[in-house]
Amino acid sequence: MDAHAQGPSLAGPHARQPRVGGLAVRGATILTMNDAFDIVEGDLLVRDGRIAAIGQVDPHERVDHTIQAHGAYLLPGFVQTHIHLCQTIFRGYADDLALLDWLKTRIWPMEAAHNASSLAASARYAACELLQGGTTTILSMETVHDTDAVFEALEPMGLRAVVGKCMMDSDPAVPARLLERTAQSIDESVAIAKRWHGRANGRLRAAFAPRFAVSCSRELLEAVGALSKEHGLVVHTHASENRDEVALMRSRTGLSNIHYLANTGLASPRLCLAHCVWVDESEQALMAGHDVKVLHCPGSNLKLGSGLAPVVEMRAKGISVSLGADGAACNNHLDMFGEMRLAAVLQSVRKGPGALKAREVVAMATREGARALGLDAEIGSIEPGKRPDFILVDRRRPHLALGTDPYSTLVYAARGTDVSTTVVDGHVLVENFRATRWDAQDLARAARTEANALASRAGF
Ligand code: GUN
Ligand code: FE
Repeated sequence: MDAHAQGPSLAGPHARQPRVGGLAVRGATILTMNDAFDIVEGDLLVRDGRIAAIGQVDPHERVDHTIQAHGAYLLPGFVQTHIHLCQTIFRGYADDLALLDWLKTRIWPMEAAHNASSLAASARYAACELLQGGTTTILSMETVHDTDAVFEALEPMGLRAVVGKCMMDSDPAVPARLLERTAQSIDESVAIAKRWHGRANGRLRAAFAPRFAVSCSRELLEAVGALSKEHGLVVHTHASENRDEVALMRSRTGLSNIHYLANTGLASPRLCLAHCVWVDESEQALMAGHDVKVLHCPGSNLKLGSGLAPVVEMRAKGISVSLGADGAACNNHLDMFGEMRLAAVLQSVRKGPGALKAREVVAMATREGARALGLDAEIGSIEPGKRPDFILVDRRRPHLALGTDPYSTLVYAARGTDVSTTVVDGHVLVENFRATRWDAQDLARAARTEANALASRAGF
């Protein structure tokens, strides 16, 4: 009989104690990001998968696990509302091009060369990078095929994700393998939602993801609008990112891009539009009137040379603007701190320093992202009853030791490598700079192997 089967009388005092559940974080500076933007010095208690208490938690409270956080900022995990996990292994393969050429000559040929194995490797590697950098939730547009492989890869990684299979049914520039028949694109999107929406304790969700108006038929966009209403699913698309894209849509439809999308029936609070760099007053008014969400991607907009989005003007009209890195093929990092800093400094250039304050930017990176995804009752702030998705930012580093305003420190001085701990849905995925579920080197190695093979399949 092996030693583990010995009776309770021979076991140590703790060996047979039942799991009490719960997680405590002690001694943090908690940026709640609640409506009052309260900052609380103290502890956080997680019980039964929810935030149970904030402030002074009884030191005798029994929990399974305690994290000492003295000197750290505790804040909601970042919500990146525009990402392409599938493009993570394209990093470094698609530089120095503007949007339409970038898509035609690099991105679409590489997406056409993806298979289930390369998609899974790209998703795992991206999830590792995102989680270790403090992003806990994403809205991702994947490629046309094999999106089940992405959901399967994400489930054990622990990232919260709203994922859509890319839909493209009309565009001569799209490679044959990525071009679908309209009905097939819709049926597959609905089937994926049936399989995955709400899985993993609600952590995985499905969205409709028509790529952009340029590569979708009117029929497809109309069907997506109706299905989004029927099922309550987010619609994730790109809009008015680039001047040539906007000119193309005007020549095809006679309308500005956002008016065209509204004309297909898509305008609703579930419509999430990535970029919106080239949107005029009347388009902004339309978006505000329908509570359409804008997903701002400053790093991508700079690298693709797309332009500077009118973030201050859109926010002044009451439009929800959240943040995303877009893909590693057009950014090329996935670090939300980088996007926060760029969001703020680009509006300084456009409208003068202070036009978009650091605290507003942290709100865009957390609570606005949750709102865009319709998840604001669950995540986006640190409040009792919400899901425990949070991060710790270590302040013992030279560049973070000074300064009295935590929002300023986070937006202007911190970076992803300063995140010491990441918790999603109460699960500690990164602690004290160490991942608990994966080996980052293994994931990077697998991603590199898949990237090399994919590049040769694509003929690069
Ligand atoms: N517009 C259509 N597809 C894409 C994409 O993959 N990335 C970006 N940045 N814009 C797009
Ligand atoms: Fe994008």
